[in-house]
Amino acid sequence: MKLTNEVLTCIHERRSTRRFTEEQISPEQLDAVLDAAVWAPSGGNNQSWLFTAIQRKDALVKLNEIVCEAFRHWVPDDDYPGKAAAKELTQRAGFNFYYNAPTLIVASNKPNYENAMADCALALENIFLAAQSLGLGSCYINQLYWLRDDPEVRGYLFELGVPREHVIRSAAAVGFIAAPSPAPARKEGTVKIVR
Ligand SMILES: Cc1cc2nc3c(=O)[nH]c(=O)nc-3n(C[C@H](O)[C@H](O)[C@H](O)COP(=O)(O)O)c2cc1C
Repeated sequence: MKLTNEVLTCIHERRSTRRFTEEQISPEQLDAVLDAAVWAPSGGNNQSWLFTAIQRKDALVKLNEIVCEAFRHWVPDDDYPGKAAAKELTQRAGFNFYYNAPTLIVASNKPNYENAMADCALALENIFLAAQSLGLGSCYINQLYWLRDDPEVRGYLFELGVPREHVIRSAAAVGFIAAPSPAPARKEGTVKIVR
């Protein structure tokens, strides 16, 4: 018999949301998702991350402009297929890298810390599951990670409070769902049990 409970249902039903309404999430909802982030595990209990939640519309719009401009001269550093497609998309009129979500949470971490990415990714999944449990949508946003060394992007994030020495690891778009995303099928053969 397949076991189920609220947590397992939440995990199954979370989707990457790519259409958000304009409505801002409440301060309590923001607190809850940020609290979920900091309760993620971290290597050696480092907790050296920082979650910068950007809700100011003018700041988000400006960040999008800076990101789109940065992508114009960005050269993908490997042949990961999503990168070339993402670069192309950013040059289209009206493109918005965080899907016009009202809240963007940027996860950064100290440099030269080998678990920085893992810690931030675990925290992001907590954000996604907390959002799902509160009836909100969310999506992993990779563009700021790809542009982590771009001086304009980095400079503006510094203005918004991300410490100069921190490395951008990932970001999460959070908001109310305007259109549900279909669940992509899970690949067969990705689990093995040795008993
Ligand atoms: C490391 C990572 C980076 C991702 N980057 C993006 C992104 O930049 N934009 C986006 O729309 N989705 C992004 N996603 C979401 C995936 O596309 C999504 O998780 C996958 O298609 C499965 O769909 P689901 O999350 O609805 O189950 C990312 C996911 C991960 C784990």
